Amino acid sequence: MSFERRPLIAGNWKMNGLIGFVDNLACFLVKKLNLENPTHFDLLVCPPSTLLHPIGSLAENSNLLLGGQNCHVAKNGAHTGEISAEMLKELGCSHVILGHSERRTNFYETNELVKAKAESALVENLVAIICVGETEEEHKRGVTSDIVKRQILDSIPDRGNATNIVIAYEPVWAIGTGLTPTTQEVQEVHALIRKTLGDKISIEEADQTRLLYGGSVKPSNAVELMDLADVDGALVGGASLTGVDFWAIAESCPK
Ligand code: PGA
Repeated sequence: MSFERRPLIAGNWKMNGLIGFVDNLACFLVKKLNLENPTHFDLLVCPPSTLLHPIGSLAENSNLLLGGQNCHVAKNGAHTGEISAEMLKELGCSHVILGHSERRTNFYETNELVKAKAESALVENLVAIICVGETEEEHKRGVTSDIVKRQILDSIPDRGNATNIVIAYEPVWAIGTGLTPTTQEVQEVHALIRKTLGDKISIEEADQTRLLYGGSVKPSNAVELMDLADVDGALVGGASLTGVDFWAIAESCPK
């Protein structure tokens, strides 16, 4: 990890968490951040939309960052069930996860749609966390590099830079399965992502852009993953639902 890139640990709560999570999980993280201020990492939670307002209020004067898990391309309008980047911003979000594999698979989100959503997020000054990653079948066929390269080239907005985008590499087969690629594989894909980003935006911006690894990150494997040269943090699903585990992962980032 580069010393110039401050680690980012992001929790993707997915469709988990009732109101009790505000007092239990979010409150725990706010207290930890207050106690350990300053930290050597940024800590972000992306709860379901129903919890954005209470967590936004709780975290208002703390270092806990808040993000959405998705946004619509449009600012507002007749889009039943959707949420816009402007709405996320109003609730105190600084980030939004886009193109998660669960959305790419279950909601048929294409690279082009992810790019359009990211552009809408940038208009609202939200940082777009753009997810990429190969499926198990693609991994077995040995086409990870081609898939990830195409996702980067086609999903990243043209005006993406080190301050307004973060890339999360999440092999689909590693999400929620307890499986992870070898550290060598993770480093190779991250290096490829940085190079591809360099070709697309600029080498200087790519050097500063934070690249997160996601897929079965736990306290037990976080140290070796966070230690890799081109890994600048993690996008954590399951383990982000337990305060002590999520905090332990954040503390695994090298100082
Ligand atoms: P996981 O999920 O940590 O539960 O594997 C990661 C993600 O989907 O972002």
